[in-house]
Amino acid sequence: MSDRVRLAVAGLGAVAQSVHLPLIARRWDLFELVAVCDLAPSLRTAVGEQYGVPEERRYADAATMIEQSGAEGVVLLTSGSHGDVALRALRAGVAVFCEKPLTYTAAEADALAEAERELGRPALLLAYMKEHDEAVWQLSERLAGIDDVRAVEVEVLHPTGESQLAFANLRPAPSDVDPDAVSRLAAESGRLLDAALGADTSPRLRELYANVVLGSLVHDTSLLRAVFGGLVTVDGARTWGDRSVEVTGELPGAVRARMSWHYLPDYPAYTETLTVHHGSGSLRVTFGTPYVLNNPTRLEVVEAAPAGAAAGGEVRSVFTSTGEPFENELADFHRMVTAGERPRAGVAEGRADILTSQRIIRLLAGDEPVGGEAARA
Ligand SMILES: NC(=O)c1ccc[n+]([C@@H]2O[C@H](COP(=O)([O-])OP(=O)(O)OC[C@H]3O[C@@H](n4cnc5c(N)ncnc54)[C@H](O)[C@@H]3O)[C@@H](O)[C@H]2O)c1
Repeated sequence: MSDRVRLAVAGLGAVAQSVHLPLIARRWDLFELVAVCDLAPSLRTAVGEQYGVPEERRYADAATMIEQSGAEGVVLLTSGSHGDVALRALRAGVAVFCEKPLTYTAAEADALAEAERELGRPALLLAYMKEHDEAVWQLSERLAGIDDVRAVEVEVLHPTGESQLAFANLRPAPSDVDPDAVSRLAAESGRLLDAALGADTSPRLRELYANVVLGSLVHDTSLLRAVFGGLVTVDGARTWGDRSVEVTGELPGAVRARMSWHYLPDYPAYTETLTVHHGSGSLRVTFGTPYVLNNPTRLEVVEAAPAGAAAGGEVRSVFTSTGEPFENELADFHRMVTAGERPRAGVAEGRADILTSQRIIRLLAGDEPVGGEAARA
């Protein structure tokens, strides 16, 4: 295997155009883009031409691309659950770079784990870019020296996706997707949501699970897992207004946690903060909109001044990242494929986040009965 990994990209929509394709091109030293796939012929042509992918390597069907393109890795940027295509790739011995969420159900994650076991090497990287953020690494390093963390608060101020992407000059949304393919995928998503939540759940709850709890809040669920060991209990969850969600629970060591996810359509810019309070200070990470590459993340530290000449007082310091978390995760993917390195998050971590998400949705359901995996989570 040459050092440059041959990549195929499935799903050529917003995140592919704004983030992953530009970064794959930037990392020409690590990757060669050999194939693309989308349901929309117009996108396949436009993106294929832009990135120099020949016509015969532009596919409508991801399974065919995996079989025929000769790619060593597939970058999965399709909407919905990634279980089916990821499983086909692993069974074909092709490594998977998988955007969140891994899957809609734990059962799909189990099938992926089995396929990866059979391959006998790490073969799926679950792309939670916040786990690859230098400011988060700095936070973890500092937390290693702090033994009295009391509380962790996450706050997400989420404007529309369109407003976050206004700068990106995306291709117009395609209008040439085969309607049969769309209905087939919608039926498949429906079947998976039945398995996750029970067949009788309301459209509102299914939307909350797929698009908010697994679709967005999972970034924070996974961050709490990566930095603090994950929510051991979820003891409160409510939703109100325009799909805003609040979740409370406990992290290992009796640390209280709260995640507040506010959908604020006209908010000026996506903003996310993770704040840690401990006995003698606080640490706060502030993330900006994820689609702007090399957008700095800040870690602000407030601590008590060392005893000395001054009586009391505080010291504040700021770390600002310069690297790009999405690029860091691509570099990890390259190391996974070429050197067998375990990724920061893979199938097991994705499965844990799905179970936590199911515990959250069960509480969000309130009086509405929930079945499927969520009833047992
Ligand atoms: N990490 C992040 O911050 C972040 C941000 C945005 C999106 N995402 C994730 O990236 C993925 C894509 O999101 P997006 O916003 O680009 O969505 P999108 O709807 O803009 O694009 C998805 C594209 O995939 C194509 N597609 C869907 N199913 C397909 C299939 N089975 N085969 C071939 N093509 C298929 C669609 O035609 C569409 O062009 C999602 O999993 C989403 O959760 C992650």
